Amino acid sequence: MASASAASEAADPSAGSPARLVVLVSGSGSNLQALLDAARERGDAYGAKVVAVGADRNDIEGLRRAERAGVPTFVHRLRDYATRPDWDAALTESVAAHRPDLVVSAGFMKIVGASFMAAFGGRFINTHPALLPSFPGAHGVRDALAHGVKVTGCTVHFAEAEVDSGPIIAQGAVAVHDDDDEDTLHQRIKEVERGLLVDAVGRMARDGYRTEGRKVYIP
Ligand code: GRF
Repeated sequence: MASASAASEAADPSAGSPARLVVLVSGSGSNLQALLDAARERGDAYGAKVVAVGADRNDIEGLRRAERAGVPTFVHRLRDYATRPDWDAALTESVAAHRPDLVVSAGFMKIVGASFMAAFGGRFINTHPALLPSFPGAHGVRDALAHGVKVTGCTVHFAEAEVDSGPIIAQGAVAVHDDDDEDTLHQRIKEVERGLLVDAVGRMARDGYRTEGRKVYIP
């Protein structure tokens, strides 16, 4: 498979069957729910379906959402492995077992390692609650607010080894209100983020995509 930084073609919309998505979550899973809903409401016309959900922790709403939708789940907790590469290898194996066309990190709060990127680089998508390359990292909403920006938003992008750095697939803007706190701003960002993710994944699945350097093209 070509890496995300090379010119590459991926996803074969001509195959007819929906693209297979494996979604990774660590929390509430509202972005996962948006993908589940799109496939349920639009059927094969959406072009993609969630075939499995993975997590790095038990007892989260994201896993319960998958279970309610009848989607298989798996959990790999970092603390259950002797080393981080061992955890990464186990995660890679579980994702690969579901033969994904695309892997979506939707609020997955762990950095994956070399095995994972070797297997899924170029088809591993992340969603981030800020307009990258501004405010990468685990506190994108808080950092944007603290900086005093008037507009922030969300970014759907290919994940690379360096956090929040890969080619940008889609972005949505959200105005910051004077009385926003981290929670109110993040809630408004997430409303935009869910639509952005559903739209980007659907278009990539239906129409294919190509990456040239930092630019991603969906025909
Ligand atoms: C999203 O805003 C995502 O960008 C960030 O965490 C949030 C996850 O929300 N990394 P949910 O679990 O999909 O509700």
